[in-house]
Amino acid sequence: MNSCIVGLQWGDEGKGKIVDILADNCDIVVRYSGGANAGHTVIVGNDRFALHLLPSGAVRQNIVCVITNAVVVDPETLLKEIETFQQKNITLTDRLLISENAHIVLDYHKIEDQLREESLGKNKLGTTVRGIGPCYADKVGRNHALRMGDLRNLQNLREKLQTIVEYKNKIFEALYNTEPISADTIFKKCKSYADKLLSFTTDTTEFLHKSIADGKSILFEGAQGTLLDIDHGTFPFVTSSNSSALGISAGSGVPVRMIDKFIGVAKAYTTRVGAGPFPTEQDNEIGQYIRDKGGEYGTTTGRPRRCGWFDAVAVSYSVTIGAIDSIALMHLDTLSGLKDVNICKAYKINGKETSFFPANTNKLARVSPVYETIPGWQQDLTDVKDFHDLPNNAQNYICRIEETTGKPVTIIGVGPKRTQTIFR
Ligand code: IMP
Repeated sequence: MNSCIVGLQWGDEGKGKIVDILADNCDIVVRYSGGANAGHTVIVGNDRFALHLLPSGAVRQNIVCVITNAVVVDPETLLKEIETFQQKNITLTDRLLISENAHIVLDYHKIEDQLREESLGKNKLGTTVRGIGPCYADKVGRNHALRMGDLRNLQNLREKLQTIVEYKNKIFEALYNTEPISADTIFKKCKSYADKLLSFTTDTTEFLHKSIADGKSILFEGAQGTLLDIDHGTFPFVTSSNSSALGISAGSGVPVRMIDKFIGVAKAYTTRVGAGPFPTEQDNEIGQYIRDKGGEYGTTTGRPRRCGWFDAVAVSYSVTIGAIDSIALMHLDTLSGLKDVNICKAYKINGKETSFFPANTNKLARVSPVYETIPGWQQDLTDVKDFHDLPNNAQNYICRIEETTGKPVTIIGVGPKRTQTIFR
């Protein structure tokens, strides 16, 4: 049985915890898009893991972890993560596979990300500055791309680097008046990446298809969220990959028809980092309450996240384009203590109501949310183990989310630990 877990909002939905829990029943966990811009927090016992590139299933010793073609690999971050695991006596030897066709994020991508953002001033996208956009741009542009498999032929790689770095230096100098970067320095780093990472590098598409033929069970782990998808999200305030469920096939080489179950993860409210329209944003004391109670600060950048009410229009859109079967609703405990809670069940645009999310920034910036108000609950939920032990108002809130999104909420998060999860 193959399944996938994707975010239904603008990322940070709590996918890491759900992947970690569901990984228990599978053999292989796959990262299929994005790069070290992702931040997944997994808490096991007293250990807290902040993962950026390794699939969240990596914390379980018996799971094989695969990083496929469409992931952009930042070797420095990956090596740090491998080291953190080693320090906790968790080995990845023989159970981490990195696609030889995955593109490599190098220093000049991060520099370019930073320079571009700075040059945009108040119009910046608010990227994570991890070099994601520039690396994907080089991939699509083809001439200046380097992939993990290129680490196998260092002489060739040195020549390619010379051409790339000369080109980048010309641009950086002309546009931003910066000091030139050195191809030698980057090459030295690449040599060390080759030493440390080539043993993990392979044809992951072949591995995945052989594993499927052998009856292995695979869990595909989405990064970011559907609304940050480069083609189907809120462009240009998106990431540079297909972060929705639609990206699984292109990203991993496994056709969607081979995936049996699609689980969408959403928070019981909405958050967003970076710029872009956010119809249900609460830039007020309610937003601050959610931010403080929910610890809504970025795992990757530490930035405070923008917070707002649950947007059923946005989540329904993600459910539709992802063919989502069921929803995992996270952070329900964060909403305890509010007098009322709101669900946005439609948008008003030009005086008309619509319930289909416009994945177009110009339109989205003009909508106003139509809310349904539900009485809140005051009780702490962090010890609740069963749906029927939740306060009536919290049960009612979940039922309304099911009705407005059309999908069952089968998993409810009431705290960060594995044990703070209600299954229905
Ligand atoms: P980039 O992916 O670093 O280029 O950033 C583009 C946009 O996606 C920015 O608004 C980021 O804040 C957002 N973004 C990227 N990765 C994540 C994530 O893992 N969670 C939430 N937002 C993200």
